[in-house]
Amino acid sequence: MVNERVAPVVRPGDTRGNPLGNPLGRFNKRPEKLKNARGTILRLLAYLGGKKKIIILTFLLCFLTTIISIIGTRLNGYAVDHFIEKGDMPGLLKICIILAAIYCVSVVSTYLQNRFMVDIAQQTAAKIRRDLYRTIQMLPLPYFDTHSSGDLMSRLTNDVDNINMTLSQSITQLFSGAVNIVGMLAAMLLLSPLLTLVGLTTVPLTFLLTKLIINKTQPFFIKQQQELGNLNGYIEEGISGQKLIILCGREEQAKAEFAKINKRLTKSAIFAQAFSGIMGPVNNAVNNLTYFIITVSGAYLMFSGSNITVGVIFTFILYMRNFTRPLNETLNIFNTIQSALAGAERVFEVMDQPKENDAEQAKEVSRLHGEIMLQQVNFSYTKEKRILKNVSLKARKGQTIAIVGPTGSGKTTLIHLLTRFYDIDSGEILIDGENIDNMKRSSLRRSIAMVLQDTYLFSESVRENIRYGRLTATDAEVEQAARIACAHRFIKQLPEGYDTVLADNGGNLSQGQRQLLALARAVLAQASILILDEATSSVDTRTEAAIQKAMLNLMQGKTAFVIAHRLSTIRNADEILAVKDGQIIERGTHQELMAQGNFYAGLYNSQFRGADMDVFRSSTC
Ligand SMILES: Nc1ncnc2c1ncn2[C@@H]1O[C@H](COP(=O)(O)OP(=O)(O)OP(=O)(O)O)[C@@H](O)[C@H]1O
Ligand SMILES: [Mg+2]
Repeated sequence: MVNERVAPVVRPGDTRGNPLGNPLGRFNKRPEKLKNARGTILRLLAYLGGKKKIIILTFLLCFLTTIISIIGTRLNGYAVDHFIEKGDMPGLLKICIILAAIYCVSVVSTYLQNRFMVDIAQQTAAKIRRDLYRTIQMLPLPYFDTHSSGDLMSRLTNDVDNINMTLSQSITQLFSGAVNIVGMLAAMLLLSPLLTLVGLTTVPLTFLLTKLIINKTQPFFIKQQQELGNLNGYIEEGISGQKLIILCGREEQAKAEFAKINKRLTKSAIFAQAFSGIMGPVNNAVNNLTYFIITVSGAYLMFSGSNITVGVIFTFILYMRNFTRPLNETLNIFNTIQSALAGAERVFEVMDQPKENDAEQAKEVSRLHGEIMLQQVNFSYTKEKRILKNVSLKARKGQTIAIVGPTGSGKTTLIHLLTRFYDIDSGEILIDGENIDNMKRSSLRRSIAMVLQDTYLFSESVRENIRYGRLTATDAEVEQAARIACAHRFIKQLPEGYDTVLADNGGNLSQGQRQLLALARAVLAQASILILDEATSSVDTRTEAAIQKAMLNLMQGKTAFVIAHRLSTIRNADEILAVKDGQIIERGTHQELMAQGNFYAGLYNSQFRGADMDVFRSSTC
């Protein structure tokens, strides 16, 4: 039997599954500003909505810690003036005990704040992750044609983690920062309004410098997240296409390309971190300047006869420290928040993609009869190129329609339209007389069993992989389906039989075995419409022939579309459609088309002649 397969078509501009290309053209943007910081913050806050009580409790604990800090600081100054200067040891001891007690309360309160915030952050991240994952599941197929799965994964992991870290660490800091700033300011004003005014003279400087640094770093944080997505995209493609890379001897190019992206990521990360790292030393310098100004002005006031004492200056400097530290931290947090917002924007960008929605009047369909009609269907993936042109066909219930044609002629595209993976440009697709646009996609898809050209298996047991065909199927039904698909024998020989857990995409199975499992899945689905896209292309001729027999049984009473490169399928079909350049150019039975002696006959003569039909006749499972 002739078994000629032509290399898969690489679509123009499609670099998925092509690890040698540069998949980054579409992501390689210049650093950007946040598009809608306010909107993104509001959306993040909405995620915190259900946690009001615990947030209020955390806030109260922050408040308690701040009050303790203010009282503790004041007690320190009091001790200087009343006990240390006067050498009153018992008094000093008493105040030390009080301080130890209130600081213990402060430790517990701080621990609880952190504990609550970790809970809030983790749960929020989990919710965002869940929503993003759900969105990804609902995105229409065309979205994945233009977006790298590695970049999507990066958004699901890195960007969400970034939000998580920021929430768990920065929100309490922001809380306690705000409370501390207000509390310390009040305490300072009570102690000495004049010194407070003097101390605040440097605050505008702090604001100015922080703003300057943040403006510089923000684009680099955004760039860093983008580059991380790019890198993940490249890694994902590199691992999936590893064999091809080795086979084509492109390891060096792949390494060089990886190094290039890695370098870009490192560069943007260094810029982002280095610029934000300037913040600490700059703040320290400004703070020291503030303490110096307070000490000098405090000493001047003390010597010029005001009621300011050494203890007051000491307390004041401690207050000032407790004021500037949260002020710096709060301003610094904006850096972290920038980075989280950049991540959040990337997450929300995916969430905002139009979902695969059904029309409002769409109906739930169950157990379709299987009468299929295409009328003047036109379809294109991209505006530039029309793939299917004026395709009309009719399949009556129980018929088997074989689709043949050269590679890239539009066979897979045609059957993808039946399940509404893609929507048509014009024309109509009717099943049982009803336009499929008026059917709920999920119910339509449940009515169609499909074995795709590129079978996918999950890293689960063989049994669960088959059960994907019908989730409610019993173990016995799974085994029965495997028998029909001739998969039972090889499954039994696996180390754990039906419980053998498959490697990623069935990596520990042969290509043919993978196809048998995919067939078993389709058998299990018990759908009235069956679509097989070269489902038997990778099994040996004996197995294939055995499957053909099983398939004939399976197809009984069902409408089947079989994209066939093999004679046995074609010969048994009720009608053969010969597709060329997206058009059905011939249709009829094998005999009719051979008699015409045109395109199909040519195809047959070049591909199928000499195929050994005896294998088919004599085979058993
Ligand atoms: N997702 C896509 N985005 C853009 N163009 C696509 C996409 N999928 C397929 N095409 C293009 O549509 C045309 C038809 O592809 P299709 O997969 O239907 O061919 P086919 O007849 O199934 O070929 P084969 O026998 O190799 O499986 C090809 O020119 C291909 O480049
Ligand atoms: Mg195809």
